[in-house]
Amino acid sequence: MDDRLLAVVREAGQILLGAHDIARGVKAKPGEANFVTAYDVAVQHFLFERLAALCPDAAFVGEEDSADDIARLAAGRAFVIDPIDGTTNFIKQFRHSAISVALCEGGEAALGVVYNPYTDEMFCAERGRGATLTRAGVRETLRVSAEPLANGLVLFGTAPYDAELHDRTFAALRTLFDAALDVRRCGSAALDLCMIAAGRAELFFEMRLWPWDYAAGALIAREAGAITSDLDGAPLPLCRPSSLLCGNPAAYAAARALPL
Ligand code: IPD
Ligand code: CA
Ligand code: CA
Repeated sequence: MDDRLLAVVREAGQILLGAHDIARGVKAKPGEANFVTAYDVAVQHFLFERLAALCPDAAFVGEEDSADDIARLAAGRAFVIDPIDGTTNFIKQFRHSAISVALCEGGEAALGVVYNPYTDEMFCAERGRGATLTRAGVRETLRVSAEPLANGLVLFGTAPYDAELHDRTFAALRTLFDAALDVRRCGSAALDLCMIAAGRAELFFEMRLWPWDYAAGALIAREAGAITSDLDGAPLPLCRPSSLLCGNPAAYAAARALPL
């Protein structure tokens, strides 16, 4: 992993930590509780500019102003970026949001970085080379837990603006609540995937996510030994939204056997 890339992402994290008057710059995007702050836009511009200097041949797809270019992820080299994953948490100063950056090559994530500036936790992976967590200057290898679903924490997400998915999501959640130890809704899909990678939780699902939400986190989870797919077991696409199921092998298999 290029340390210069990690330094850029860490610097972007300072923008979140230094944020003030967040409410003044909040704009509603289409749909219920779908917000963008001036900071989402600022972080994305910062990353586009600084990463372009490191990787001049790569294209850029970001959530905030180039989401329409998602087809670019199917070929060539492209960064896919969520400048703030967990925007509602950020607005509420819940202190659980992340910057998510993946470099895709030929339609697959080759490199993924998810950074939580509030905990200074930098989750990273390169395809085929494992996943790591760096915190306070110490780097450790990430590995999923071996706990079965019955002893597992289940993480999930559902966006308020995807109203048609709420009933199915909460029905699946009820099923998993009965099958697992407990459930959590933390507010950042990228960090949810990293929690699976770090063995802090066993399963994550969401009925619709976009590639900028999961490209980096899913690679980190897979490189730590997790299985990722859509809810029907198919590989995750990179150039369209998808449902997502991720878990350690035992929890993933148990969840696939349930009617979700
Ligand atoms: C959201 C978060 C949330 C998930 C939503 C995403 P945003 O991303 O990842 O956990 O449930 O589906 O849209 O809007 O905060 O970047
Ligand atoms: Ca997101
Ligand atoms: Ca976002």
